[in-house]
Amino acid sequence: MLRRIHKDQPDAFAFTPANLAWAEAQITKFPEGRQASAVIPLLWRAQEQEGWISRPAMEHIAAMLDLAYIRVLEVATFYFMFQLHPVGSIANIQVCGTTSCMICGAEDLVAVCKEKIAPKPHMLSEDGKFSWEEVECLGACANAPMAQIGKDYYEDLTADRLGEIIDELAAGKVPVPGPQNGRYAAEPLSGLTSLKDFESGRKQYNASAQFAVDLGDTVKRIDGTEVPLKTPWLREDVAPVADVAPEPSSQAAAEPEPVAEAKAPEPEKAPEPAPAPAPAASKGGSRPEGLQAAREGGADDLKKIKGVGPKLEALLNTLGFYHFDQIAGWGTDEVAWVDDNLQGFKGRVSRDNWVEQARLLATGGDTEFSKRVDDGDVY
Ligand code: FES
Repeated sequence: MLRRIHKDQPDAFAFTPANLAWAEAQITKFPEGRQASAVIPLLWRAQEQEGWISRPAMEHIAAMLDLAYIRVLEVATFYFMFQLHPVGSIANIQVCGTTSCMICGAEDLVAVCKEKIAPKPHMLSEDGKFSWEEVECLGACANAPMAQIGKDYYEDLTADRLGEIIDELAAGKVPVPGPQNGRYAAEPLSGLTSLKDFESGRKQYNASAQFAVDLGDTVKRIDGTEVPLKTPWLREDVAPVADVAPEPSSQAAAEPEPVAEAKAPEPEKAPEPAPAPAPAASKGGSRPEGLQAAREGGADDLKKIKGVGPKLEALLNTLGFYHFDQIAGWGTDEVAWVDDNLQGFKGRVSRDNWVEQARLLATGGDTEFSKRVDDGDVY
């Protein structure tokens, strides 16, 4: 596939202050002399900011990484995830045209794009909202034909359904991604023939589709508000870029202060039944009642809760939580508070559903994970 930079280029490119801070932090991931390895994340961020990669953006990134421009151009032109032309303001539709999809109707999907968006790939629609292109296999061949729109896959497509999806996106709606023919994921269309108990307890949509539905968006570009876009190699509680002070040259933004290690609980000197030590200020929720120390008989092994390791167990103890039944009793507000106050591990309570695990463990039951802990399979 011939990939050339766009004929019309902007005069200049600059990261926004927040994106610059994020980019500088990315560079710190790599050892001295290997900063060139940050080229892909920086290109991706530039694309998230602008929608596409311009020559000034590549030159800017080359300068940041002390690389020749050609080195950045090589990367940007090699990977088709990098857009070298302006894309639609709502979405660029990437129709897979490889074997499975081609056999199952990719050409019909391309015809829809030609009719509804623009006659040629990489052209903007008249209203500037959409663009399209044909791409190589996107790895969802069992759900052919398919297209990637934004960051989501729309699978088991028909020409009619793709047309509807484009109309829905144009109207500001959020079409549910994933299979469009009623399949949950990539199981046989006639239904499951094995692992049938999988159906019980599953969410309404498969993992990535459910995520998009929960997010309420399918075409959102990264804007710095995403929690996983922190810089965990510098510590998990580094502020997301949206929170970074808008000071482009600020080393503080690129090299945040490390956070103190969570310490094991110190023996309390005062005998009052006061709650355990005060943690950092909470943004929300209500603090669950803590204990001054473990009850007689000793603390429960909180590491039997999936997601709790030795550090988190120590941190929980400092917050006054020693027993499964304490965690089992947390409601939504309390989960929110603890999630917000696990310095370095924020969000873990909800992520790993500690409350549900603790309920089982508190009543003497086992989880699959706790059995593995008991068997010594978890270190
Ligand atoms: S052939 Fe289309 S996803 Fe693989």
